[in-house]
Parts: sequence; structure tokens; C-alpha cells
Amino acid sequence: MNFFSLIVLVAIALLGMNSCAPQPTKEVPEPYKKGQKAFHKICSNCHGSDAMGKHTQAPRLIDEEYLAPNFTDDDIRETALNGTDKMPSQRKNVTKEELTEIIKYLRYSQKAAGLEPEEEEEDEG
Ligand code: HEC
Repeated sequence: MNFFSLIVLVAIALLGMNSCAPQPTKEVPEPYKKGQKAFHKICSNCHGSDAMGKHTQAPRLIDEEYLAPNFTDDDIRETALNGTDKMPSQRKNVTKEELTEIIKYLRYSQKAAGLEPEEEEEDEG
């Protein structure tokens, strides 16, 4: 059926476009891809691909210092929106939804890197 082939072609074209975007070095599971993409678009320039902050001006966020007990989701949100002395505000570059996805992605990456808070707490989610 022609309509169906058209859909397939459009899907292939979209996938092709996707692969032109800057690629992170780490593969993340599907639920975190959106956040990873947003991070790459908005934060990577300074924080490094995969938030490792290598050779960049900004700290790596995959670090104990930024685990949830030390640096909460709200802290990340506030930092991104308001900036700090050294980090410019990203309020104009990031949407609320993107920020939520970015935080999800960062938390996943911290875990994937083997970083765990001292005590396991299940008070969220
Ligand atoms: C233009 C460069 C730049 C961009 C873009 C940027 N940051 Fe930063 N970020 C910095 C710098 C520089 C620091 C260190 C700030 C400091 O020490 O006060 C920082 C610090 C941080 C911190 C730690 C703050 C603290 O108090 O320790 C967090 C969290 C953070 N950034 C999150 C983000 C997120 C999330 C994004 C994307 C939405 C982002 N940043 C985009 C430059 C940037």
C-alpha cells in the first residue's frame, strides 16, 4: 500500500536526520535518550559530552559531589535556570521538560558510572 510505504520512507528520513546530530559516546537506555540529547544540545559545550567535564571549563557532573544527597534535583534545576557566578543562566536555552529529562539522564549516568549515595533512600519516585 502506497500510504504505508510513504510512512516508512518518512520514518527512515527522520532516523537519518537524527544520526547527523552530535553523538554522545555513551549509549543510554531508551528512557534517558531524550535527556541525553537535550544535555548534548544545551550543556555539553561546557560540561563535556557525557557530563564528564573533561578539558572543559565546567565541572564534571558525574561525580560524588553531585549525587542527589549532596546536590538535589532542585539544586540542578536552579543552577541551570539561574546560573552561578561562573555559569551563565540557561533559562533561555532550556525548557522545563528538557530540564526534567536532563536531570533524569544525569541521575542515570551517575548510577551507571558506579556512583551511589552512601545510604540507599527510596523516598522518591
Ligand atoms: C556556558 C557554559 C555552560 C553551560 C552551557 C552550562 N554550564 Fe553548568 N556550569 C558551568 C560552569 C563554568 C560551572 C561552574 C560554576 C561555578 O563553579 O560557580 C557550572 C556548574 C554547574 C553545576 C554545579 C553548580 C555548583 O554549584 O556546583 C551544575 C549542576 C550545572 N552546571 C548544570 C548545568 C546544566 C544542567 C546545564 C545545561 C542545562 C549547564 N550546566 C550548562 C558552565 C556551563
